[in-house]
Amino acid sequence: MPATRIIQFTSDHKNPDGMNDAVSMLRSGGLVAFPTETVYGLGADALNVEAVQKVFQAKGRPSDNPLIVHVASLEIAWHFTTEISDKGLQLAKRFWPGPLTLVVKRKAIVPDIVTARLDTVAIRIPNHPVTLEMLKSFDGGIVGPSANISGHPSPTSAEHVFHDLNEKIDIILDAGPTTIGLESTVLDVTVNPPVILRRGGLSREDIEKEIGETRRTNAQELLRRSPGTRHRHYAPMARVVLIQKNDRETFIQQLNTLKGEGNKVGSITYSKDLNDIDATKFHFILSSSVERYAQNIFRVLRELDSFGVDCMLVESVEEHGIGAAVMDRLGKAAQKI
Ligand code: TXA
Ligand code: MG
Repeated sequence: MPATRIIQFTSDHKNPDGMNDAVSMLRSGGLVAFPTETVYGLGADALNVEAVQKVFQAKGRPSDNPLIVHVASLEIAWHFTTEISDKGLQLAKRFWPGPLTLVVKRKAIVPDIVTARLDTVAIRIPNHPVTLEMLKSFDGGIVGPSANISGHPSPTSAEHVFHDLNEKIDIILDAGPTTIGLESTVLDVTVNPPVILRRGGLSREDIEKEIGETRRTNAQELLRRSPGTRHRHYAPMARVVLIQKNDRETFIQQLNTLKGEGNKVGSITYSKDLNDIDATKFHFILSSSVERYAQNIFRVLRELDSFGVDCMLVESVEEHGIGAAVMDRLGKAAQKI
C-alpha cells in the first residue's frame, strides 16, 4: 500500500473535501483512522467483513478480541442491537457522546468477525466533532479499535497512528492530540448489576452515581465475557517498573540499581517530592493532576521508547476517578508476558 494520507482537521475541525474523501474511503471498504476524545481509532465499515478483516491485519490483532462499533446516535445503535437494558439506556442518555462503551445483545446483522463470535456487541458514540461528522455522514456503524499495533500503547495523536500504521491504512484524520488520553470504559449492561470489563475515561464513581452499584469481574469471568483481555496490552518496548506513589526511597534505590547494571533508564513522576530525582532528559514530570497524567501517559511511554531507554521507572497515581484506569494500563504495561 502507498504511504498513508494524512488529512488535517487541526485548525477549526472543518475540511469538507477531506471529510468527503474519508467517508468515500469507508464506503469502498478502506481504513480511516479517526480522532476521538479518548484515543485515535482505526475505522472501517462494521458491516463489511473484508474491511474489518483488514483492520485485524493492519493492527496484528488476535481474532478473539472483539471490536467496538462507533455510531452517531442511539437511533443508529439500534441497527446493531436487539436489547439495551434500562440501566444501559439511562447511561447512554446521560453519557453519550462520551468515553463509555456499552456491551449489549447483538443483532444477527453484526458480522461474527466484529464480535469475535460473542452473542454481544460493544457500542459507543464518541465525543469528537470531526468523528461525529464522519459518522453522521457515513450513516452506519464504524468499527474502531485503538489505531496502534496490537500490544503497543494506544495512539493519542495522528503522529502515533502514522508511526504504527503508515502504509497499512488509507487515511488518518488529524485533529491534534486527544483530550482524555485513555480508552473508554467498557461496561456490560446485559447483566444486572452491570459489569465493568475495562476501566477507562468514565469513572466507576460517575457511573454508580447514575445507576447504582456495578461489579468488577474476577479473572475467569473477564476471560469469558471479554476474551481479548488476556493478550498483552499498552506495553512500550522498554521494561516498565512501577513505583508506589510518593515512595522516594524505592524510586532512588531502583534508579541507582538499574543504572548501575548499565541500563539506560527513563522515568515518569507525579508527586512533587519525586520530581527532582532524575535530572536527565529521559525524565517526564506529569504532576499537576491525575487527569493530566492520563492525558499524557501513552505519549510519554512512546517518547521514552523513542529515546531508546532499556527500562522506565513509573510512579503510580491514586486509584480513584480516572486514576483507576491509569493504574490498570500501567499494571498491564509492567506485566512480563
Ligand atoms: O476509547 C475507546 O474505546 C477506543 C476509541 C477508538 O473509541 N477504542 C478502543 O478499542 O479502545 P479497542 O479495540 O482497543 O478496545 C476495545 C475493548 C477491548 O477490551 C475488547 O475486548 C472490548 O472492548 N470488547 C469489544 N467488544 C466486546 C464484547 N462484545 N464483549 C466484551 N468486550 C468487548
Ligand atoms: Mg486497544
